Amino acid sequence: MAENSPSRLPAEGRVVMLSGANRGIGAAIARRLHEDGYSLSLGLRQPAALSGFDDDRCLCHHFDAMDAESPAAWVAATMDRFGRLDGLVNNAGIGEPFGFEDGDEAAFDRMLEVNVKAPYRLIQAALPGLRAAGSGRIVNITSLAGIRYKRGSPGYVISKFAAMGLTSAARALLWQDGIRVTAVAPGPVNTDMMRGSDALPSEDMTQPGSIADVVAMVLALPNTASVSLVPINALWEPMV
Ligand SMILES: NC(=O)c1ccc[n+]([C@@H]2O[C@H](COP(=O)([O-])OP(=O)(O)OC[C@H]3O[C@@H](n4cnc5c(N)ncnc54)[C@H](OP(=O)(O)O)[C@@H]3O)[C@@H](O)[C@H]2O)c1
Repeated sequence: MAENSPSRLPAEGRVVMLSGANRGIGAAIARRLHEDGYSLSLGLRQPAALSGFDDDRCLCHHFDAMDAESPAAWVAATMDRFGRLDGLVNNAGIGEPFGFEDGDEAAFDRMLEVNVKAPYRLIQAALPGLRAAGSGRIVNITSLAGIRYKRGSPGYVISKFAAMGLTSAARALLWQDGIRVTAVAPGPVNTDMMRGSDALPSEDMTQPGSIADVVAMVLALPNTASVSLVPINALWEPMV
């Protein structure tokens, strides 16, 4: 293999921002990327509460997806601390009931804000750093609910379809800058978000560590082996 064509990018020295790292899928991704050797900038509503990420490879910074100023402030703090940015994992997300005949439109607005607009703003703010890296990575944790309607809150599904649109547009428009954009789209995952759901027993759902494995793989792929979409399911369905 030619020396300038690695099949895997190294974790050491690369800096990844991850939102919602305190629980669920985000916590599993944070643990996995930390073990792999990445430097991490973790965006959290309550950064002081996150233990286990207090070494010199980690920054825990305030991030509230409902606050339009928060993405730029978190990216600026990341650049100040590490001086570079190689990856952004948009993981923080919410699901609330909102349908055609029920639900409060404020809930719909919150889902659009957290699941779509905050990731959009983070991508905007992160762009200069990701461009400078030459092999920037954006991973959006979308959902199978962003690919087809099956069950649950229509408002959530609409927000996740929009997150897929964000992924698709970013993938096309940022490709020339060496930035590779991927949607990781899980079905039911055993986290707080699925607590009380009758979709599946929790032990039969996808476990958060499996999503973390996929994110780690996507971040490590070189510019010449980009994956656009990874649907992940615990159930058989046609196509996904
Ligand atoms: N679980 C599933 O079945 C499933 C399936 C497909 C896709 N997903 C997606 O996977 C991602 C992670 O979900 P999860 O299952 O890990 O959910 P979760 O356990 O409920 O965790 C949600 C995370 O998002 C953070 N968050 C929520 N609102 C925020 C805000 N305004 N600002 C900053 N952070 C905020 C939470 O922080 P706090 O602790 O501060 O609330 C928490 O870290 C979401 O995008 C979700 O839509 C989940």
